[in-house]
Amino acid sequence: MADLRITICGIEFPNPIWTAAGPTGKDAAMLLRAAAGGAGGLVAKTISVTPARVPIPNIASPFAGSLLNAELWSEMDYRPFIEKELAMARTAHLPVIASVGYSPEDLAVLGKALEDAGTADAVEFSIHYVEKDAAHLRQTALSLKQNFNKPVFAKLSPAIQDLSSVLQALDDIVDGYVAINSLGPALDFDIVTLRPSMGSQDGRGWLSGRAILPIGLHFVEAISSLSKKPVIGVGGIRRVEDVVKYIMAGASAVQICSLAILKGQNVYGKLARQLADWMDKHGYATIEDLRGVYQRRTHRPQHVLEQGPQLYPAISYDLCTYCDLCTKSCVHFAIRFQDKLFLLDRSKCVSCGLCASVCPTAAFDMTVQVEV
Ligand SMILES: Cc1cc2nc3c(=O)[nH]c(=O)nc-3n(C[C@H](O)[C@H](O)[C@H](O)COP(=O)(O)O)c2cc1C
Repeated sequence: MADLRITICGIEFPNPIWTAAGPTGKDAAMLLRAAAGGAGGLVAKTISVTPARVPIPNIASPFAGSLLNAELWSEMDYRPFIEKELAMARTAHLPVIASVGYSPEDLAVLGKALEDAGTADAVEFSIHYVEKDAAHLRQTALSLKQNFNKPVFAKLSPAIQDLSSVLQALDDIVDGYVAINSLGPALDFDIVTLRPSMGSQDGRGWLSGRAILPIGLHFVEAISSLSKKPVIGVGGIRRVEDVVKYIMAGASAVQICSLAILKGQNVYGKLARQLADWMDKHGYATIEDLRGVYQRRTHRPQHVLEQGPQLYPAISYDLCTYCDLCTKSCVHFAIRFQDKLFLLDRSKCVSCGLCASVCPTAAFDMTVQVEV
């Protein structure tokens, strides 16, 4: 059986599937529920020096698997949150990671309160609502680090424009990264009542869930290439394959928010069991064996780049179910079936690869040349 245990910055986790800062970490009761549901680490809701005043309504699902939210940070006073809620969460005997925001002054106060209470094994700080300027972020990280002696992770936002400058500014201070936070601003509204889905001032919120998975993967892969510090992947996970992708892209662990909100707090343990099964089936004994294999094996796919126009989809009739998704998605009208025979018009095919991507049974191979 694959070994899911990991050690990050000296902290031992039974598995790499954790909660993310959000409603599923809003208090001790929620964190204990996540522990019972099999989470390998407990990340709490973000706290700040001033409790948030959260608009209502503040969460909507504009399409299946994704959420828009305007939840801000915790509405609770930070003192009881740190002294009571986090202390109670520790009774689950899992690592507890606090989440804090936002200004350097806030982080000095919160870092000291966490250090004094000793109720968190690590802290992540969110850059969601602040200036993404590298110098400012460095000041923020320093302020936390000077007041809290355990590991500090920077939770990055997908709004960062110049990732390499931000990493350069943070890398000698922080112990690791969490990527990504939700994406936005984003808008959704009812077309009859014209009411926005969010009660925030301008009706806007932040997008999370399945829609943002490729953006999260991009950030994790890019951060892992630029920094040797551990990266925790978060964003859009809904299947075990998504967890595998994050780890292959360089993540040491993952966090889950929207899926646990939509499907309940047992998702962590379910994904952990599925991850162990997947690793057994594919011959990976430990998370470290799996981590970064995408980076190591496919950095420069020369054959695809060089031969691009000569690559055509070849079909495996054993796998094809004749669902017609490839024909419908071929915007160039290069594909048709005649008497169950796959016909490709090579004068129209531009080798974009979409047919292979939409095929639910992976019946296409894009790496060979075919005659038709
Ligand atoms: C309702 C809601 C509340 C959230 N609150 C926080 C928060 O307080 N602090 C934070 O850093 N991220 C917060 N997030 C962002 C998540 O932690 C996570 O980064 C993001 O949702 C992407 O992961 P997912 O696709 O698994 O949801 C929140 C997300 C949602 C949906």
